[in-house]
Amino acid sequence: MAPAIVTSGGDIPEFEGRITFTVIICVVIAAFGGLMFGYDIGISGGVSAMDDFLKEFFPAVYEKKSHALENNYCKYDNQFLQLFTSCLYIAALVASFIASKCCTKLGRKPTMQIASLFFLLGVVLTASAVNMEMLIFGRISLGFGVGFGNQAVPLFLSELAPAKIRGALNISFQLFITIGIFIANMVNYVTSKIHPYGWRISLAIAGIPALMLCIGSLAICETPTSLIERNKLEEGKAVLKKIRGVDHVDLEFDSIVVACDQAKQITNPYRKLMKRESRPPLVIAIILQVFQQFSGINAIMFYAPVLFQTVGFGNDASLLSSVITGIVNVASTMVSIYAVDRIGRKLLLIEASVQMFVTQTIIGIILVIGLKPTGNLEPKQAMAVVFLVCIYVAGFAWSWGPLGWLIPSETFPVETRTSGFAFAVSTNMLCTFIIAQAFLSMLCSMQAGIFFFFAAWILVMGMFSIFFLPETKGVPVDAMVERVWKQHWFWKRYMTHLDGTELKPRKSDLAHQTMT
Ligand code: BGC
Repeated sequence: MAPAIVTSGGDIPEFEGRITFTVIICVVIAAFGGLMFGYDIGISGGVSAMDDFLKEFFPAVYEKKSHALENNYCKYDNQFLQLFTSCLYIAALVASFIASKCCTKLGRKPTMQIASLFFLLGVVLTASAVNMEMLIFGRISLGFGVGFGNQAVPLFLSELAPAKIRGALNISFQLFITIGIFIANMVNYVTSKIHPYGWRISLAIAGIPALMLCIGSLAICETPTSLIERNKLEEGKAVLKKIRGVDHVDLEFDSIVVACDQAKQITNPYRKLMKRESRPPLVIAIILQVFQQFSGINAIMFYAPVLFQTVGFGNDASLLSSVITGIVNVASTMVSIYAVDRIGRKLLLIEASVQMFVTQTIIGIILVIGLKPTGNLEPKQAMAVVFLVCIYVAGFAWSWGPLGWLIPSETFPVETRTSGFAFAVSTNMLCTFIIAQAFLSMLCSMQAGIFFFFAAWILVMGMFSIFFLPETKGVPVDAMVERVWKQHWFWKRYMTHLDGTELKPRKSDLAHQTMT
């Protein structure tokens, strides 16, 4: 996930400073926040496919699954089983609004500490659960951890990073998420062989990153922006010197003070966000999150083992296949770190949309032809499905995954940046909740058609990227209005001249709309 505020931007003057040990330590510790989130995304699908877990909490699903003649597509369809995965995201949605207040009033560091405490409580409740209530309350507590963590950690990272490496650090947070997902997949693979309590180990291991974040956060410093925002100017300057490793920080210090002053002048950023000229970045931020989730990625991240079992793999092979998709996810996110500032956002998104559209469509066709409600796919067809899922995940991981977070974090002007980003976070959580809650039922009712459903979304996503998404590569964050929005054939109609009159699009703009 991405930063919610950028302390300086625009034509960034070369602030003095180097990448200090303090910054490295802070980044490593904050990274546990990303691992915490990723681990949770990856763990629930594998756990919900484990028989020991199902026997204890979802005996009806277990019965259905063991029933030889049960419809392949409906084995796991159970609202409570989906609630196990999805309630975390609804809790995270609520928590992110509380956490954004907490970040401003108390600081980023205490918000991260609160996140780790919620997370630890959630881990204890879920790993030791003896009834459904413990399980659901545990997941809700984990959700609060995710909501607090996802608001504070990216903010913390971006405010701490020297401006030159802010973009790379931004995507690094997504990298930690994917590493968390991958570790979860491997853990599930091992613990699924430990009976009858392997699932408890899977859930308990989530405590490790949370504990590291909790203990580690005692050692890190608060960000200069957060201190200055709360009028602790001297302390802010001292921390800035420490993290930059130099004494001459006046230029950067002044720019943070100016940014904070500007932000303070807007008493109600949410009202400002509803104004006409805020519409382009707001619509883009919200739509990117909806698209990111309706691409179907979390149907795979949460339910890959379940999905692979559906197409006919045994328990073991299914978990192993999700380990493979986990590796592809991590490696392809690294591609994105390399490519994003070279190739640009728009081309990556368009290329990946084609790749993801083609793979989802072929998976759908293979399932329509090969997977009847009872019986399995031919081994070759099942292998092809795993291969195609990998190609699909690769496309997502170098485009919609990281860029869904990066673009909203760089397109808002400073005064609406945090509030605008909070909309992005909560839209993401809401859409993740919808997918997590609905996917297994959709699989049951739409059968292979679900893949065409996602493919149709991907087609719309690609079209949107071609026509409506401006390229923001290399544009300083504070120059977006002039250089991006006011130049775009469509979005410029929402912009005003300095005298307040509207910028009207010309007819000829339509002809060159595509690659602006
Ligand atoms: C998305 C998550 C997804 C993950 C997969 C993130 O960008 O927000 O919902 O599970 O990527 O790597």
